[in-house]
Amino acid sequence: MARNHDEYIRNLFGNEDTALQSVNESIRRNGMPAISIKPEVGRFLALLVSIAKPRNVMEIGALGGYSGIMLAGALEKEGSLTSLELEETYANVAKDNLTRAGLGDKVKYVIGPALQNMESLHSAGQQYDFFFIDADKVNYPNYFSMALKLATPGAVIVADNTLQGDKVFDEDIHSENVEAIRTFNKQIATDDRVESILLPLCDGLTICRVKP
Ligand SMILES: C[S@@+](CC[C@H](N)C(=O)[O-])C[C@H]1O[C@@H](n2cnc3c(N)ncnc32)[C@H](O)[C@@H]1O
Repeated sequence: MARNHDEYIRNLFGNEDTALQSVNESIRRNGMPAISIKPEVGRFLALLVSIAKPRNVMEIGALGGYSGIMLAGALEKEGSLTSLELEETYANVAKDNLTRAGLGDKVKYVIGPALQNMESLHSAGQQYDFFFIDADKVNYPNYFSMALKLATPGAVIVADNTLQGDKVFDEDIHSENVEAIRTFNKQIATDDRVESILLPLCDGLTICRVKP
């Protein structure tokens, strides 16, 4: 019995297969933070990838590979995932989990601060047609600006946790994370290079498409 719309959605769409369950088990076993995306967010990401059919997906924040499995698992045969992660030990756990899920050949991990690595990938002429932003919140505005530089026309940019537990609209809260997410949401909502929306799924997903 659901008590609110979050529980209702989770009951209907939140089932996890054994590969996803084992990601969160490996996160516990390795003493990593339990901050993977929620199952229904994963399902939504997979749905977006199935619709958009991107060739080159960039994920910012790999942790143990939960969102990586949802993104890579929905790719077409020639699609690939580049996953940016600060912590090498986390990226190794994620790589193991994607390999166990049969997706090891679809993913490449780039270790270190994501912003610097995005700059390097941009300098190397790389382009991406789908982005999932789910790393340090203070850098979300910077990740958006860099994603625009790396984006192909028509690229999709998705970011998680953009309601910050509903703190984004509490005017008494001015923490660094909340202020950064407010800036990010406003950037996306007002930048006329993109079409965009914020969906109140779980902790909020802001989505935009770069106008061709
Ligand atoms: C919320 S977790 C990502 C969860 C993952 N997307 C999932 O659902 O499976 C955030 C991740 O971002 C990484 N991170 C934090 N700051 C970063 C930075 N500056 N550059 C790259 N990764 C960063 C953290 O180490 C952590 O693994």
